Amino acid sequence: MTATVIRNGRIVTAVDDYRADILMEDGRVRMIGTDLPVGDGIPEHDAKGLLVLPGGVDVHTHLDWDFGPARTADTFYTGSQAAAFGGTTTVVDFAAQVKGTSPLDGLADWHERASVAAVDMGAHMIITEVNDQTLIDMKSLIHDEGVSTFKLFTAYPDVLMIDDGQIFKTMRQVGAHGGMVQIHAENGHVIDVLVQEALDAGNTSPKWHMLTRPTLMEGEATHRVIRIAELAEAPVYIVHLSAGEALDAVTEARDRGLPVHAETCPHYLFLTDEEYDRPGFEAAKFVMPPPLRGAAHQHALWRGLKTDDLQVIATDHCPFCFSENVLGLRLSKELGRDDFSKIPNGAPGLETRMPLVYDGGVRRNGMSLNRYVELTATAPAKLFGLFPRKGTIAVGSDADIVLFNPNETWTIHAAEHHSRVEYSLFEGREITGRVSKVFLRGELIVDGREWLGREGGGQFLKRGQAGKAK
Ligand code: URP
Ligand code: ZN
Ligand code: ZN
Repeated sequence: MTATVIRNGRIVTAVDDYRADILMEDGRVRMIGTDLPVGDGIPEHDAKGLLVLPGGVDVHTHLDWDFGPARTADTFYTGSQAAAFGGTTTVVDFAAQVKGTSPLDGLADWHERASVAAVDMGAHMIITEVNDQTLIDMKSLIHDEGVSTFKLFTAYPDVLMIDDGQIFKTMRQVGAHGGMVQIHAENGHVIDVLVQEALDAGNTSPKWHMLTRPTLMEGEATHRVIRIAELAEAPVYIVHLSAGEALDAVTEARDRGLPVHAETCPHYLFLTDEEYDRPGFEAAKFVMPPPLRGAAHQHALWRGLKTDDLQVIATDHCPFCFSENVLGLRLSKELGRDDFSKIPNGAPGLETRMPLVYDGGVRRNGMSLNRYVELTATAPAKLFGLFPRKGTIAVGSDADIVLFNPNETWTIHAAEHHSRVEYSLFEGREITGRVSKVFLRGELIVDGREWLGREGGGQFLKRGQAGKAK
């Protein structure tokens, strides 16, 4: 039996805000109360002046993953170190079905790679081919394997995209069995036309990534998949929502009471398409799908967070190095130096999500502390079948706890990060609010700048029914 006490902290959950001590025992929260009497020899941590938050839950990462000719740079170990230092103790990452094979094989491959994780991990499944057998496999993924969410693409024809009929069949099957479909909503065929026209005209620079992925088509695809989900009577979750038109489609559906959910990401909240005007190849750092948008879209996203039309802030941590010299060409943006369409689509973010949203949301944008916890931990835990084990501080929940200093001001530098990627989208940004200590199931894994976690110290999370937010 191992026990630890956190004393004198201000505990904040999605609904509460109070001062109390927490006794953690055998990985769980055992007691919460004032002046908790505990036996001699039990380690104590003083949280005076600190916020005591539930460990963050990031439901959108791509660790150690092949995407076309490129591979993401973080292993599950380096990625989970980055997560922990950023205050995230639960990650749900994407396993993928390889075309022509079973998604169960994709999950087995994911388990092998994920075994080195140092924080707790769940898996979603990317579906790239739908037939009678894969529909049966989806059922066993939900009921037997704890994988209750499935990502489908309306972009990347011939790579990841499936057609509307396959989307409909998947939604009907997954919805009937208590799961939820996540959609990458862009119009892949239209994008391909625009990309070809740009290249034919000699436009090869990174900015053309943004110019060939219009917000109108993100809105179109979002509207389309919501209508398909409505017919399938299934919950749906739009990933990495960036455009006002897409948010309008989500809002309209939610106003009609449909189980439609959506996430956005810190880069859409804190950066705009002006980043694509950086000189030379520098703008390639900001090549992710969908691209960064203009200020009007960003304002719409902040409104969506206020009205709960957006329920989750996740990272879409999809780390490709900027330079070939760091880990080799396959893991770098250099693949697309002469052709923007070949730049690996993705950027890092796992390590900075919690402090960035605290600084930009709570301190600068009127977000309440409760809402902060809800967007970054509680709502994702609920929607993805992890609550109340994860996403809150309550008696019986896993003792995943972050001591957060709301007054520490610091500057983001990729060189100090734990991700293997050598750049940050937020390099040089001064923010206030920093992770001080992190407990994973009661074990101290981050103490200031010191790493105390261990390779393989994370557990696989079998998840339950998905798509229920409240
Ligand atoms: O997720 C990112 N950033 N890129 C890979 C493709 C996708 O959208 O999943
Ligand atoms: Zn995506
Ligand atoms: Zn992604």
